[in-house]
Amino acid sequence: MLKARRRVRAAVVLFSCVVVLLGLGLSITWAHRTTGSVRLQRFTQSLPVSRPAASGLSASDAMGREPIVPLSARLALEPSLDPRKVALGNRLFHETQLSGNNQISCASCHKQDSGGADERPLSLGFEGQLSVLNAPTVWNSSLNFRQFWDGRVATLEEQVDEPILNPREMNTSWEAIVSELNQNDDYVRTFRQLYPTGIQPASIRDAIATYERTLVTPNARFDHYLRGDKTAITDEEKAGYQRFKDYGCVACHHGANVGGNMFQRLGVMEDFFLARGKVQTADLGRMNISGRPRDRYVFKVPSLRNVALTAPYLHDGSVETLEEVISIMGQYQLGREIPPDDVTLLVKFLQTLTGELTGTSL
Ligand code: HEC
Ligand code: HEC
Repeated sequence: MLKARRRVRAAVVLFSCVVVLLGLGLSITWAHRTTGSVRLQRFTQSLPVSRPAASGLSASDAMGREPIVPLSARLALEPSLDPRKVALGNRLFHETQLSGNNQISCASCHKQDSGGADERPLSLGFEGQLSVLNAPTVWNSSLNFRQFWDGRVATLEEQVDEPILNPREMNTSWEAIVSELNQNDDYVRTFRQLYPTGIQPASIRDAIATYERTLVTPNARFDHYLRGDKTAITDEEKAGYQRFKDYGCVACHHGANVGGNMFQRLGVMEDFFLARGKVQTADLGRMNISGRPRDRYVFKVPSLRNVALTAPYLHDGSVETLEEVISIMGQYQLGREIPPDDVTLLVKFLQTLTGELTGTSL
């Protein structure tokens, strides 16, 4: 009797193992197929469970094996971030003296009331010139594995030089900035208190990047759900999350930032640019950095946190609504036509990713 029961139990265990392994094998094969150009190894390495440190999260933040990891509120209050440097960085982020005509600050294109981005397809820069790409949000950008659509810089510190020196954006020089800020006693005093070298490009970069590291948006309703509050999102939103996994959006959008940790081609399954037309240099994506034809149209997969607040979408800002961009993802990234009802559910799920900035709901 006992023996028979043990045998049954052994069979059940064996059977579950086979099912799990089969499921894992299938999903990896499937992910490999849908992600086209990505090498399998890179894909599996980039899964959130295998690299929690890279996203600045401790292993204890990872709940179960969900492909999305809740954002830790601790990140925003990181004790290693000196609050005086944060305050200085905040001031510099809003400082128009960082531009050639003293009219543009970082916040002109990365606005608090536009989800940390702006509401335009392309941003308005120095003397009305347009940027060549859509401004991504600065919120949670500290969690992205690299900065910019084509990932050409690795850190927030390095990133600062680009808008400042870019003739289309702020169009100035470090000499001009250092000399202007040195005319302000308050800046001179504050910098001297915080940095032995005083007002220097490196201290300006450091203060701005330190401020940006506080711009994380924890406590989205979806984070509460992941942490175990099953009532934090509605049944429709849960169904939307299920679609997000079933369609395979999670192959590219996963981890703490629901994206921001790999490069992918826009148009894995079908040529997006053939339909859109008029390919510009900026559309070439990573190919502009590497010179390799296989990097043509390859971009950093954007984070989907607060995505409901950051229209228009895509690197070219060509898409107005979430509904539209989800259909595009289905067609060009997954080779699937997503029916309208599922699009609606996916939108509802994405809306649960809107979080809090410095304790205030967005
Ligand atoms: C004229 C508009 C404009 C101004 C001013 C501007 N930005 Fe940006 N920002 C952009 C655009 C456009 C991009 C995307 C460019 C790209 O990917 O090549 C961007 C990208 C970024 C990114 C990368 C985010 C990511 O996820 O890849 C960060 C961080 C950032 N900006 C911070 C700043 C800071 C700090 C300043 C001020 C020193 C600043 N920006 C000034 C338009 C602007
Ligand atoms: C093969 C990888 C891949 C898959 C699968 C994928 N995406 Fe994306 N997604 C991307 C890339 C890359 C971009 C940016 C493309 C660009 O702008 O050029 C993007 C952009 C987006 C954006 C716009 C974000 C912004 O700020 O502009 C949304 C929303 C989005 N994806 C949702 C989804 C949904 C929903 C699914 C599933 C139906 C999905 N994605 C499947 C790679 C992918």
